Amino acid sequence: MKDRCTAILLAAGKGLRMGGNTRKQYLDLEGRPLFTYSLATMDNCDIITDIVITVLKGDEEICKEMIDVCGLGKKVRKIIAGGSERCFSVYKGIKQIDWPCNYVFIHDTARPFIEEDTLKRLYNEVRIHKACVAGVPSKDTVKISDSEGFVVKTPNRKDVWIVQTPQVFEFEMIREAYEKMVHSYVDVRAKGVVITDDAMVVEFFTGCRVKLVKASYRNIKVTTPEDLVTVLAYLKEKQEPDKQ
Ligand code: CTP
Ligand code: MG
Repeated sequence: MKDRCTAILLAAGKGLRMGGNTRKQYLDLEGRPLFTYSLATMDNCDIITDIVITVLKGDEEICKEMIDVCGLGKKVRKIIAGGSERCFSVYKGIKQIDWPCNYVFIHDTARPFIEEDTLKRLYNEVRIHKACVAGVPSKDTVKISDSEGFVVKTPNRKDVWIVQTPQVFEFEMIREAYEKMVHSYVDVRAKGVVITDDAMVVEFFTGCRVKLVKASYRNIKVTTPEDLVTVLAYLKEKQEPDKQ
């Protein structure tokens, strides 16, 4: 029987680093809100069977309208309020899944250019390894610093990856890992650990190894205003592929 894969699409952030009057998930890109780009890709990809979207509390209705206007959302089962931090938005999304689900694709809608090919490759890998994340080999040398901003270590560049989303996991495994994380969150924070992605939850709370899957350098996260320049350039490239 065909696997069922739920995508949890995260759009409940405040976009503080972007600033401006419009929250970044709602920024207009060629006539539709940024968060609908990855939704469209997930909607069109056969691997994804169900979708949960987390939005800012109070935005549930308006998001539903935006999705309807775009003619998207045929797989959207729920639009729910996210949490105060990304990890709590993910947890809330996971808790909503009460339908058959083999694998969960957790994706930041702030990454509009996720490609179907990457989703396929992630799916193939998660069936083997139970946990995998999209990423790209780092083009830059990365330094680890101490609290005063002095270099303490330089990892070998060939071992350094820049990690993206989707991050994909066997459903039961990630559900249990997130339950553990939420219950020991105070201890985790007390150690100074900030949970910034889902793989960290697996690394901390399970024995499962996380496989890195090479995605595209175009799968950028829209975080600060200069990222918008790149986004617009990529959109133009999509519209005028022959001119490249
Ligand atoms: N996100 C979320 N719930 C939160 C925080 C973030 O669903 N409490 C989502 C964002 O909407 C985004 C993704 O997680 O799609 C990655 O987060 P990030 O790029 O940090 O976005 P923001 O948190 O919105 O931005 P900032 O950190 O600059 O405030
Ligand atoms: Mg954030």
